[in-house]
Amino acid sequence: VRKIWLTRHGESEYNQHELLGGDSLLSPNGEIYARLLPDALVDRVPLTADGNTMPVSVWTSTLQRTIMTAEELPFPKLRWKVLDEIQAGIFDGWTYKRIEQERPDQAAERKADKLRYRYPSGESYLDVIQRLEPVIIEIERERECVCVVAHQAVLRALYGYFTKTPLSEVPRIEIPLHTLIELVPKPDGKMAEERIKFD
Ligand code: F6P
Repeated sequence: VRKIWLTRHGESEYNQHELLGGDSLLSPNGEIYARLLPDALVDRVPLTADGNTMPVSVWTSTLQRTIMTAEELPFPKLRWKVLDEIQAGIFDGWTYKRIEQERPDQAAERKADKLRYRYPSGESYLDVIQRLEPVIIEIERERECVCVVAHQAVLRALYGYFTKTPLSEVPRIEIPLHTLIELVPKPDGKMAEERIKFD
């Protein structure tokens, strides 16, 4: 059976400072994750009926932190703009704390309805879920294994779709850094899941 892997990029410089959005590079911790990922993934590639390893393709966003994380993976890679992180609009480069202090109205609005809240000049979770449709269609059509290296909000949307999580819960699904999520389709249509934690 083919596998689907989901992982966030390794820790970025923006993650270290809890800044939203941006296009920063990996931190030293993030680089370690990028170095550990290839062996972990290669060990998990399933065999086909005739005993060969199944082909794998790696999909990243167009942001540097996912491209750097996938760099050492020994598989063909594809960059998708639609896998880029949720657009925080006017709050790109801000911390959650600064939004709370300077725009408490916006912070409260998001807290009240994180799924529908749209960042001014940016996106909502519903927007992200909608733009991911072509990726979902491709993953479902694909017969190879796919490893998606992307971002927190984007992976919540993909994971939510594959695990049939109710939409209202999607914006709060746990997708930690430095964790490889392995999903394997079961005959009953559900997914078997394993989470491989690093560090
Ligand atoms: O903090 C990392 C990050 O990927 C941000 O760029 C993004 O805005 C955020 O996570 C999404 O998570 P949440 O919807 O919980 O703010």
